[in-house]
Amino acid sequence: MILITGASGNTGRAVLDEVRRSGAAHRAMYRSEDDAKRAPAGTHAVIADFADKESLRKALDGVDVVFLVCSPIPQLVEFESNVIDASRDTGVKHIVLNSALGAGDYPKSFPSWHRAVEDKLRTSGIGYTIFRPNSFMQNIVAFDAPSIRQQGAFYAAMDDARISYIDLRDISAAVAKALISPKDHSGQVYELNGPQAVTQSELAAKISQACGRPVKFVDIPEEAQRKAMLEQGMPEWQVDALLGLQRYYTGGQGGEVTNVLPSVLGRPPITLDQFLAEFKDSFRTAA
Ligand SMILES: NC(=O)c1ccc[n+]([C@@H]2O[C@H](COP(=O)([O-])OP(=O)(O)OC[C@H]3O[C@@H](n4cnc5c(N)ncnc54)[C@H](OP(=O)(O)O)[C@@H]3O)[C@@H](O)[C@H]2O)c1
Repeated sequence: MILITGASGNTGRAVLDEVRRSGAAHRAMYRSEDDAKRAPAGTHAVIADFADKESLRKALDGVDVVFLVCSPIPQLVEFESNVIDASRDTGVKHIVLNSALGAGDYPKSFPSWHRAVEDKLRTSGIGYTIFRPNSFMQNIVAFDAPSIRQQGAFYAAMDDARISYIDLRDISAAVAKALISPKDHSGQVYELNGPQAVTQSELAAKISQACGRPVKFVDIPEEAQRKAMLEQGMPEWQVDALLGLQRYYTGGQGGEVTNVLPSVLGRPPITLDQFLAEFKDSFRTAA
């Protein structure tokens, strides 16, 4: 029995789709009753809260393999640690952990939170597989598309840093393989990059080509970006963490292309051009 945590979120939902399609026995964990009611047909929903260990032990009863993912929030280490503790109490055999690129060598921002959980998991005595994905292609739609629609431009203190964006659907497909056949992936730490590394200016040119209107990237000072994020109402911890992560890329990391993802998937990953062609309407004025 596989338990998919974070099933209402971006990653958990996509992993749930993959596991459902495989026909493997599974259940999905939600925090709210409303979300649990919307579980897809054929999926048994359980309600639990990462902050409540007793609810976790109930959700984990009879579970062999767990997919562990939490929102990127300051409580991530505490919450994911609770799941590892409850998994040990209930006899879970294997945890597939959603970590992040940089957890291996960048002791700041989100990667350092994920690393703390990785270290706990590695010494827990439970079997594990760790996925460290690079930035999702879906972030481009979530974060850049709004100003592209309004102004034909997007802004960041990114200079000419490169990112090997990866499609969340490829991450989920790789994660599902480890959930379904944990022995084949036991003890592995997979650093997942997309098939092409691009600067933000190259990304702008690709978006422009996909959506058929001029799009430009504007490099701005980090202080201007910080001010804009705070003015949009983002909490200070999140601004610090996002800018800290951005410095991972401007420091020259996160722009590698490797064969880890295609070898886990057993097929070529989705390219940035394919992704942008699929989501081209998100960048158009009338979208
Ligand atoms: N975006 C990227 O480019 C990227 C790249 C690499 C790694 N990551 C990592 O990927 C992870 C997840 O991303 P995501 O986009 O899937 O996040 P998300 O959409 O926010 O989903 C997080 C899930 O965690 C659940 N959750 C939060 N607090 C909970 C609690 N107390 N009890 C039970 N469930 C709780 C949420 O449930 P509710 O719906 O109830 O809140 C939601 O289902 C993050 O840790 C991030 O650091 C992201």
